[in-house]
Amino acid sequence: MEFVLRMTPHVRFGRGAVRDLPEGVRELGGSRVLVVSDRGVQKAGITDRLVEMLESEGLDVFVFSDVVPEPPVYVGDNATQMAKDVGADIIVGVGGGSAMDVAKAVSVLVTNGGKVEDYQGVNKVPSKGLPKIVIPTTAGTGSEVTWTAVFSNPEKKTKGGINSPYLYPDLAILDPELTLSLPPLITASTGLDAFTHAIESFIGKAATPITKMFSLTAMDLIYNNITKAVLSPDDIDARENMLYGSFLAGVALSNAGVGAVHAMAYPLGAVYNIPHGAANSILLPYVMDFNKNVCVDEFRDIAYIMGEKVDMMSRWEVTSAVVNNLHLLKEAIGLDMTLSMLGVEWEKIPELAQAALRVDRPIANNPRLITKDDIIQIYEEAYGVEEDFEDEDFEEV
Ligand SMILES: [Fe+2]
Repeated sequence: MEFVLRMTPHVRFGRGAVRDLPEGVRELGGSRVLVVSDRGVQKAGITDRLVEMLESEGLDVFVFSDVVPEPPVYVGDNATQMAKDVGADIIVGVGGGSAMDVAKAVSVLVTNGGKVEDYQGVNKVPSKGLPKIVIPTTAGTGSEVTWTAVFSNPEKKTKGGINSPYLYPDLAILDPELTLSLPPLITASTGLDAFTHAIESFIGKAATPITKMFSLTAMDLIYNNITKAVLSPDDIDARENMLYGSFLAGVALSNAGVGAVHAMAYPLGAVYNIPHGAANSILLPYVMDFNKNVCVDEFRDIAYIMGEKVDMMSRWEVTSAVVNNLHLLKEAIGLDMTLSMLGVEWEKIPELAQAALRVDRPIANNPRLITKDDIIQIYEEAYGVEEDFEDEDFEEV
């Protein structure tokens, strides 16, 4: 057996764990803290709470709260400029994946110079960044344990990650209480993103025994808690299980990669600004249907987690049950959307497929070889009939 496992070296998990932040900053030698966050987190009062906590320990604190979902490259550049202007020596990212990603990028941009665009790709960052701490407020992206920071390039209408070992946070603080304020739609879409990480890392070509262990437990926790967390937002046990599950899924994705769902979700975010979790949730059952015949054993494990009596079921019944349950899960958590509802234009599908194919690492990691024609067909299946879908909650991320 051979494997390599990399992740954030220091993780603190628990209800109320955010109280450890000042200690974490001191341990990493920080005294001038830039908190990177977004308006939603600020509105929920979380940013102020952190600032107060840090200032009461005698630390100098500055706040950048202009992070937006699917952050464009200039957001990373602006936050970096602020870090330089205030002389920050440590970065704290608090929020969803976008805020954590921006914080991770700022840390290496301050020390290496240049702009976000200079480093999009793999291993382009020459040296380590400022110390960084991340605190997720969604149970979703897994950014707290990954080496990636994803940015959109509005002019080119593309999305691309900075991928570098220097992007691993030095400390991740996971406090389920911070996720209690998440509105149901964000809980659903970020949770489905985490579930997609768990599934795609589980069936992907790069999966190893240890990543599969992380993926399996993550799938179990997320599948069996996401509906509770969406329908009963104050259920702290469900919130805790979701945060733990998305963390485990993040470890799995960071080491075993993702697949065609993510490759196909990227252009939807870049061209139509469709939130990452929503894009994944639309595509997941269709991509799984496409993959089902090449990973039947893995589907059996997934079906078992979903409560199916797999011992009594044929191979066909198992794979169909998984795909069907994914559709049902989306419905149960209010995410039964289609591409047409979110404004995707039918005639743009071949262009989107071409762009998805260029997201080469997830495409190569997909368990079944996938061609442009396959991708077109999957987008078409996920297109649905034209209806309007509006929910302002998406703007809260
Ligand atoms: Fe994702």
